Amino acid sequence: MNDLVFTIQPGGLLEGDIRVPGDKSISHRSIILGAIAQGTTSVEGFLEGEDSLATLRAFRDLGVTINDVTNGNTEIQGVGLHGLTEPVGPLDLGNSGTAMRLMCGLLAGQSFPSVLIGDDSLSNRPMGRVAEPLNAMGADVRLQAGGLAPIEILPSRLQPVDYAMPVASAQIKSCLLLAALYTNQSDGQTVITEPAPCRDHTERMLRGFGYEISTEGSSISMSGGGTLTGCHIDVPADISSAAFYMVGASIAKGSDLMLRHVGINPTRTGVINILQEMGADITFENKQIVGGEPVADIRVRYAPLKGINIPAEQVPLAIDEFPALFIAASCAQGTTVLSGAEELRVKESDRIQVMADGLAQLGISHDVRPDGIVIEGGKLGGGEIHSHGDHRIAMAFAMAGLRAEQPIRILDCENVATSFPGFSDLAGKTGLSMKVSEE
Ligand code: S3P
Repeated sequence: MNDLVFTIQPGGLLEGDIRVPGDKSISHRSIILGAIAQGTTSVEGFLEGEDSLATLRAFRDLGVTINDVTNGNTEIQGVGLHGLTEPVGPLDLGNSGTAMRLMCGLLAGQSFPSVLIGDDSLSNRPMGRVAEPLNAMGADVRLQAGGLAPIEILPSRLQPVDYAMPVASAQIKSCLLLAALYTNQSDGQTVITEPAPCRDHTERMLRGFGYEISTEGSSISMSGGGTLTGCHIDVPADISSAAFYMVGASIAKGSDLMLRHVGINPTRTGVINILQEMGADITFENKQIVGGEPVADIRVRYAPLKGINIPAEQVPLAIDEFPALFIAASCAQGTTVLSGAEELRVKESDRIQVMADGLAQLGISHDVRPDGIVIEGGKLGGGEIHSHGDHRIAMAFAMAGLRAEQPIRILDCENVATSFPGFSDLAGKTGLSMKVSEE
């Protein structure tokens, strides 16, 4: 396969009025819950990225009728909790950890077997974190040696569980909530406790589908056997995609950028809290609640940034935004310290090491730690960066071009399409000088 390469000419600024594509987490969940609801679910703002499309295709393979997505609109003909049918082959979830982990929970409760596969990156990510608690519920989820995919799921009878998650992971939490739907109401409640708050889109969306679920402190409880009722879902623009533009506008002198209809769920706004603490000029307009999720227009203007110690409680709330935040830290005055972020090592790539290698190439001093990094702000040079097929690494270094002194070439950018189709067009339109080539 040809390599997709981004080449960024140094300098420039970001300006304009844009809407980035739909939220990936909410898009996945709209298909999953829409499929097992009674009646039709209509979705607008759906992310037409490879990850959420992998979920859509998987549910078609499970017998659900889902319209092709046009301009972010689709419709799902829900089959009810027990209406999915056995797929003819393995379900291919591509690069998507969310699709694989959430579907494990859902499929563990079915009366038919299934097999989940993914690409090389996904086949090297830890799946024991969902298989273990599911098997404690009585599931029969079988992994390859080392706790990896392909995953084989055999039918079994699920029991409620009282589970304290070892990591603040929305994927584990959501996986178990989906499995809990398939427990018997008479067997009692499933209770999941999170060590720190992490994204709560599943809980909000279950309520939007009329399913009873209760949250008390850090524990979420629900029982199985209820009904989800089809509804309308307005997917906000993805704050994780907006984050690249927030960082770009914050670091490039003269920038003034408006980002429309961005999801600002408080379990996702770590990136804004951290950037503001670094001195960023970020303001909100038109705050509103849309389908149970808070959204706003976000205006970002250039401001000089300073290094900070990133507060521990912000880490799970900004977990996908660290590649972009590392670029902000590289452009800040002084030292930025990140700790308690070992989860970054098991994302689409080892994001601590891969970012550190790229920063080294650009001449930024840093010190890699097992659970984080220390970054000294400085002058960004240029050169060749390996994204290791990680969409967020590629987009983060693209934004670094705004402050670089020489061109930056970023290799292996194919997977930008998993979360942000149209990234390069939008970047070009707002002022980043970038070229995309197949080499
Ligand atoms: C996601 C949860 C996070 C995040 C991922 C999407 C979700 O993963 O990194 O991109 O949609 O639930 P973890 O739950 O592993 O932290």
